Amino acid sequence: MFNKMRKTKEKDVPVTKEEVLRHPMPNHVAIIMDGNGRWAKKRALPRAAGHYEGMQVVRKITRFANELGIQILSLYAFSTENWKRPKSEVDYLMKLPEQFLTTFLPELVAENVKVQVIGHTEALPDHTRRAVEKAVEETSGNTGLVLNFALNYGSRAEITAAVKQIAKDVERGMLAPEDITEPLISSYLMTSGLADPDLLIRTSGEIRLSNFMLWQLAYTELWFTDVLWPDFTEQHFLEAIAAYQRRDRRFGGVSAR
Ligand code: FPP
Repeated sequence: MFNKMRKTKEKDVPVTKEEVLRHPMPNHVAIIMDGNGRWAKKRALPRAAGHYEGMQVVRKITRFANELGIQILSLYAFSTENWKRPKSEVDYLMKLPEQFLTTFLPELVAENVKVQVIGHTEALPDHTRRAVEKAVEETSGNTGLVLNFALNYGSRAEITAAVKQIAKDVERGMLAPEDITEPLISSYLMTSGLADPDLLIRTSGEIRLSNFMLWQLAYTELWFTDVLWPDFTEQHFLEAIAAYQRRDRRFGGVSAR
């Protein structure tokens, strides 16, 4: 009965920004932004319309995360598997970072956001890579939110590349096998220098990781919602953070509560 009442109360009373700010904030939030296609289909629009709307949500959530004092926001924008989509959709998705950064770069600079990217960017079309490089360069001195785009990113490819590089460094005598520790492996990943995510959000009702940050998510709190990414609001983001704040993170140990 008690649990039922609590649940009802949690559901009925929307969490506020002020409430969330009173508790420890996740340092790093990662998001698998899913459901753009279904959002468009429901409206009989082309899939590109869903991606365009998704881009507007990227802007909104970036601003809000920065306002909340979150330090790192990682966004899965294009996976190594997304090349399998029809060429016209891939072409459109490759235009989005450029469009986003051209439109919002001045805003990101003014808001002290630092843009970073993980993924095999060398395989991106020139125009996409150049836009991203420009944003990374122009925001490199910023000290606010780190906006980390995963573009042509796949976790297994990332781990494979790290293992190869470690093997080469052992072969060259720069590393001994005994030097291979968990922090060392982390330092060979594309996220080197970034703390692991505290909270992962996935939208659109899919309950899987889809090759995103498999090593880095080992102890991350996971939060799934049926909301499609283009419908995702600041209020949903607050709900995810509030859920995170109610969790008891034990990292394999015992409760500190
Ligand atoms: C998944 O939805 C979404 C993507 C593959 C692309 C994500 C990209 C954005 C949200 C915009 C990116 C913005 C910037 C600034 C780079 P889906 O197409 O798989 O949706 P579906 O599962 O409903 O078909």
